[in-house]
Amino acid sequence: MLVKPLTGLLALGALVSTSVLPIGEQAVLSNPSSNSLHDHKANAFTRPTWFESALLARRMLALSSSGVISTVFPDPIPPSSRTPASVAGLPIGLREYIADCDRALPDGLSFGDNGDPTILALRIATTFRNIGAGSNISLELDWWEHLEDAVPVYPGLPHSPAALPRITLFGYFDPLPSLSRHDAAALEKCFLRSHPDAKMWLPGASGAPHASFWARLVVTQAYWIGGFGDVQQIGWMNVTEWKGIRQWSSSVGDGRGWEDVRLPGEKQR
Ligand SMILES: *[C@@H]1O[C@H](CO)[C@@H](O)[C@H](O)[C@H]1NC(C)=O
Ligand SMILES: *[C@@H]1O[C@H](CO)[C@@H](O)[C@H](O)[C@H]1NC(C)=O
Repeated sequence: MLVKPLTGLLALGALVSTSVLPIGEQAVLSNPSSNSLHDHKANAFTRPTWFESALLARRMLALSSSGVISTVFPDPIPPSSRTPASVAGLPIGLREYIADCDRALPDGLSFGDNGDPTILALRIATTFRNIGAGSNISLELDWWEHLEDAVPVYPGLPHSPAALPRITLFGYFDPLPSLSRHDAAALEKCFLRSHPDAKMWLPGASGAPHASFWARLVVTQAYWIGGFGDVQQIGWMNVTEWKGIRQWSSSVGDGRGWEDVRLPGEKQR
């Protein structure tokens, strides 16, 4: 097996994985349409392909309700700001509400459910003030909250968050134009499914404590860490594939959609 010993951890992983592991312990990718153990066995020591990794990543976006947005403080910090001058130009990562709601946008505005996360932006929040001041952004999603559900990759060793996937999406922040009542209702319905509490500060909500607006991250690059490098892909994703993936089928890869894969610890259906 080809192993990239990127770090001590990965090298350790490589060492352990050369021993025989119980069937299915490692297989995090599965096709629900095939239920035989042989598929697990066949996958046990091979990495998912890059397309399969893109399916996993796209599924992670679909199932995620928040992610860490990184921005950079303006340099210099405006004198009127209460932000310390010494953080000028430094990055800050803050968790924000997102949802996979592009398909809820009206025709002509939607990009056709192509994996551009929808963001509920609060004007007062540091993330969106930095963006307003010209910062670039990236958005990190991960599956680390599911550690307890996932099967350890290496039996005998403790559960390892590092074995679980994460992805950072790069691109540009695209504030959405104001929506008709009807279109806004469709977007809100999608977004509130994962964020019922956000009803209080939806754009235009009466009595909202803070003004907000809708935006999306238009993805231009994606950096994926599937887990340990001997059993998962690590690197830059093919963004054409990312954008071509849909829930039930895709115009790229082998045609499967993100509904055809499961992330570590998800119930098999
Ligand atoms: C944002 O990124 C672009 C490249 O994508 C770069 O040209 C630009 O200088 C960056 N802006 C800031 C404020 O760093
Ligand atoms: C990315 O994926 C597209 C669609 O499958 C393919 O046509 C293209 O060759 C891929 N690009 C690279 C650099 O592999």
